[in-house]
Formats: sequence, structure tokens, C-alpha cells
Amino acid sequence: MAKLRVGVLISGRGSNLAALIEAARAADYPAEIACVVSNKADAPGLAIAAASGIPTTIVSHKDHPDRESFDRAVSGELERQGVELVVLAGFMRIFSAWFPTRWADRLINIHPSLLPAFKGMHVQQQALDAGVRVSGCTAHLVIPDLDSGPIIAQAAVPVLAGDTEETLSARILRQEHRLYPLVVRWFAEGRVSIGGDRVTVRGLACDAMLLFSPEP
Ligand code: GAR
Repeated sequence: MAKLRVGVLISGRGSNLAALIEAARAADYPAEIACVVSNKADAPGLAIAAASGIPTTIVSHKDHPDRESFDRAVSGELERQGVELVVLAGFMRIFSAWFPTRWADRLINIHPSLLPAFKGMHVQQQALDAGVRVSGCTAHLVIPDLDSGPIIAQAAVPVLAGDTEETLSARILRQEHRLYPLVVRWFAEGRVSIGGDRVTVRGLACDAMLLFSPEP
């Protein structure tokens, strides 16, 4: 069966991209990374994609007069590559309303908190400042409102005494690397259905939440 063509948008390090590329290496993984688009020419993730022979494109927001023209340029690249699902992986550019509308229900993001708690930047530090005992990551559909949109799945981690922004971020990131390839798999398997602001994943015991066991 044809694999789902995934376009990944990055701005930086690309560790979630690397996790997706690694997952897609398996012969039975139902999606392929068709292309990677970065808004930053120096994003380290570009080299990760290139090393795997994945076409990369840089679309700089600096070359576009406004958000929508930037969005249209990114979308044009994705269309040229026949992308069917757009995956944001550390993409730090805010879209105009045009992009999430154009890719409605086919645009997903991963965010390092248990949404709707802690939106915006430095969300792991926000979690520490709030004194929460549990944090994690959220895969969600992207809508025009920032860090909002129907939740597809979440993975939780404990917040430990003595955690810093770095240690908590690293613990959450390890779960991101497990969760995101799974979520892309569900889309590729046609198991995700979207009704209003609710996402259902067929065949899961618990359809909106994955609670991974805490690490030792
Ligand atoms: C990840 O932690 C991701 O959840 C976060 O940026 C990091 C990117 O890391 N995204 C957001 O905060 C989006 N609101 P990566 O480039 O190594 O995948």
C-alpha cells in the first residue's frame, strides 16, 4: 500500500524529525518523510534530513512581506512534494489563519506540556514555576489559535524534586520521540477521525491519552 506522504516543518535542532525519520526506516511503517521545510537556513535539523536523502527547502520568513505570503510559499513547497500530512516539529513560526485553514485536519504539532496548560515559550519552566507534579507532551491538530486545537494524544512524565528546565525538558523530549511517530502512524493507518473539537483514534483502549510508565 502507498505510504502517507509527510512534510515536516522545522526551525531548529530536529530531534523529533530524527525520531520520525528513524521510525519511517522500518519497512512496515505506513508513512514516509517526503520533505522537510525550514524557515531557518541554519537549522541543524536540515542536515539530519539531508543525511537521509530527504529533500529539504528553506523558506525564510524574511523573504516575505507578511505572514500569509510566507504561509503560501511553505504550502507551495508541500504541494510540490505531494504532501498529505503536515507535521510541525519544533517549527517556531506563527502562521496566519490561512495555513491552518488550508491544511485543516491534516496539520499536527507536538508541544512540550500537557495542553491546555502552559502555552507559548519556556513551557517547561512555566510548569516548574507552577509547581505541577506531572507534565508531558501533547500532539494536537493545529488551528489558528496558538498551542490550541483538538488533542490527539498526550504522554505524561513526573516532575521530580530538583528538576531544572533542562532535566524536565529532556524527560519530556524522550516521550515526544515515542509519541510523535505513533501519532503519525495512526494518521497513516486511517485510524484518526475528527469530529468538531474531538479526535478519536480507532483501536486504542483509551482514545485521547497515552500515559507512559515513568522512567526509573
Ligand atoms: C520540542 O520540544 C517541541 O515539543 C517544541 O520544540 C522542541 C523542538 O525540538 N515545540 C514547541 O514548543 C511548539 N510550541 P526538536 O527541534 O529537537 O524536535
